Amino acid sequence: MPTLLHIDTSPLGDRSVSRHLTAAYTEAWRTANPGATVVTRDLSKAAIPALDADWIQASYTPAGARTTKQQAALRLSDDLIAELKAADHSVFGVPMHNFSIPATLKLWIDQIARVEETFRYEESGPVGLITGKTATFIASSGGTYGPRGCLAVVELRRTVPARRIWFHRCYRRRFLNRRRSRCADVGRHRTRSLPQTAYRRHS
Ligand SMILES: Cc1cc2nc3c(=O)[nH]c(=O)nc-3n(C[C@H](O)[C@H](O)[C@H](O)COP(=O)(O)O)c2cc1C
Repeated sequence: MPTLLHIDTSPLGDRSVSRHLTAAYTEAWRTANPGATVVTRDLSKAAIPALDADWIQASYTPAGARTTKQQAALRLSDDLIAELKAADHSVFGVPMHNFSIPATLKLWIDQIARVEETFRYEESGPVGLITGKTATFIASSGGTYGPRGCLAVVELRRTVPARRIWFHRCYRRRFLNRRRSRCADVGRHRTRSLPQTAYRRHS
C-alpha cells in the first residue's frame, strides 16, 4: 500500500488557502488509493530548530563513530528523513512569505538535507539518494507575478537550496500555483477543484 506524506506550513489554520488545497489533494489521493497510509506533518507547530555547530559536525561524522550527544543532535533529522523515505509521494502546502518559502519549510529542508543520507557529493556535483518518489508542491501567494503569475513557483525554485541536490535529481516534481482570491468564498470554491484536477492530470 502506498504512503502519502502530507506537509503543511501555513500558520493560518482554517483561513489558509494552501491548507485547503493540500486537504483537497489528500482527499483525492485517498479516494484513488483506498486503505493507503497518509502521514501528516504540520511544520507551523513542529518547532524545528535551526542547524547549529553540533548538528553539522554530527552530520559529517560517520554514523558508526557518532557519540551519544551527536546521535541525539541528529534524532529529529533521522525521524524526518525516515518519514520522507517511507513515503511514496509527498504533498507540500507552500505559502509565499516575503518572496520566499516559509522559514519553517527551510528549517525542515535543512534537517532532511544530510550528506550520505539524502545526498552525496560526486565529481559531477551533489547527487540525491532518495529515488523513485514523487512530490507535489502547492504554492499560494497574495500577488500575481510575471506573465503567467508564477513568480511564487519561480521564487520557490530559486530559494530552495536543496532543490538541486534533492528535489531536482530524485523527485518528479509538480508545481501548482494558486493566487489567493480576494473573495474567500470564491477562493474556497475554486480551491476545491484545483488539486483534484491536478491530481487526476498528474496521476
Ligand atoms: C508573513 C506573510 C508574508 C507574505 N509575503 C508575501 C509576499 O511576499 N508575496 C505575496 O505575493 N504574498 C505574500 N503573502 C500573502 C500570502 O502568500 C497569501 O496570503 C497566501 O494565501 C498565504 O498562504 P496561506 O493562506 O496558505 O497561509 C504573505 C503573507 C504573510 C502572512
